[in-house]
Amino acid sequence: MNHSTDRPVFLNLLRIRQSAMALLSIFHRISGILMVLALPALVYLLGLSLRDAQGFAQAVNLLQHPVARFVLLLLGWALAHHMLAGIRFMLLDVDVGITRAAARNSAWLVLLVGLAVLVSLFVFYWLPGVLS
Ligand code: HEM
Repeated sequence: MNHSTDRPVFLNLLRIRQSAMALLSIFHRISGILMVLALPALVYLLGLSLRDAQGFAQAVNLLQHPVARFVLLLLGWALAHHMLAGIRFMLLDVDVGITRAAARNSAWLVLLVGLAVLVSLFVFYWLPGVLS
C-alpha cells in the first residue's frame, strides 16, 4: 500500500492554528446555538414582563442578577457576531469579497467588531451593574 508522507498526523482542533475565516465560522455556529438555547428564557421573560406591573418588576429584578447580566453580555456578542458573520456569508454566496485576501480581511473585520461589541458591553453594561 502507498502511504503519503504529508498526511495530517493528528486532527486535534486545539493544536491546529485556525485561520481568521475558520474562527469566524466556528464562532458563527456557537453564537447561533447560544441564541437558540436562550430563546425559551427570553420568551419567558417577555411573557413575565407583559403580564402586569408586578411581573415587569420581577423581570427587571431577574435581569439585574450578575449571572443574567453576563448571559445578556454573551448574547449581545452572539447577536452582533452572528449577524455580521451571517451577512458576510451571504455576500460570499453572491460572490462579493470572494478573493482570498478580501475574505480574510472581512473575517478579521467581523471578529474585531464582535470583540469591540463584547468589550463595550463589558465596560458599559456588565461592570456598572456589578459595581453599583
Ligand atoms: C440577525 C440576523 C441574522 C443573520 C444575518 C443570520 C444569518 C445566518 C446565515 C447566513 C446562516 C447560515 C450560515 C452557513 O451557511 O453556514 C445562519 C445559520 C444559523 N443561524 Fe442565523 N442569522 C441571523 C440571526 C439568527 C438568530 C437570531 C438566531 C437564533 C435565535 C440564529 C441561529 C442560527 C443557527 C442556529 C444557525 C446554524 C448554525 C450552523 O449550523 O453553523 N440566527 N444564520
